[in-house]
Amino acid sequence: MNIIGIIASQRKEGNTAFIVNEILEGAKEQGAEVKAFSFNDLDIKPCRGCWACHKSDKGCVIKDDMQQIYDALEHADAIVLGLPIYMGQMSAQGKIITDRLFARFSPRFSPFFKENAVKQKLILSFNQGNPDADLFKVYTDYTKNMFEVLEFDVTEVPIVTDLRSEPACEREDLRTSLMDFGSALVSVK
Ligand SMILES: Cc1cc2nc3c(=O)[nH]c(=O)nc-3n(C[C@H](O)[C@H](O)[C@H](O)COP(=O)(O)O)c2cc1C
Repeated sequence: MNIIGIIASQRKEGNTAFIVNEILEGAKEQGAEVKAFSFNDLDIKPCRGCWACHKSDKGCVIKDDMQQIYDALEHADAIVLGLPIYMGQMSAQGKIITDRLFARFSPRFSPFFKENAVKQKLILSFNQGNPDADLFKVYTDYTKNMFEVLEFDVTEVPIVTDLRSEPACEREDLRTSLMDFGSALVSVK
């Protein structure tokens, strides 16, 4: 099984990076091949709204590092998308990547939309400073639905909370539960 992680945060050693990497580690222990992409390492521009991706089979015409993610997506069985909550929504980095997934509706990715195509599994992983896991429930439910429209099989929406005072990497309770999400991803049918 081939799994990619996307860290939609500018902080290379931040909470989102820790969370995505721990989930991937759990999957790797179960034999999955994993690769993480950090937004901070990549030059990814916002969608131009040109619709060129819909007009040919070449996909998105912006030749930047999003092309690496498109290539990886084509070969991935599952994706772990790590989204920090900034101002009550996914980070701007997460939104830039999400908008670029508009190209997923294009002929280049059309096999995903054929009847009986196996959907890619997606763990939509949010993290936030606030301790209340239900605080942004309307938003996280809405976002889950949006990714289902993009033909992902959203298997889990873990919400890591209460990260104001202590970084995720110092939370003893987190490591095991994050790794369990990764290992479950490999065993989910
Ligand atoms: C600009 C900004 C806005 C934030 N807005 C919220 C928020 O609305 N609600 C919340 O619970 N936490 C908020 N936080 C806290 C982050 O969600 C939290 O620290 C997260 O784990 C950061 O992930 P990172 O280390 O990968 O950047 C915000 C942090 C920043 C920097």
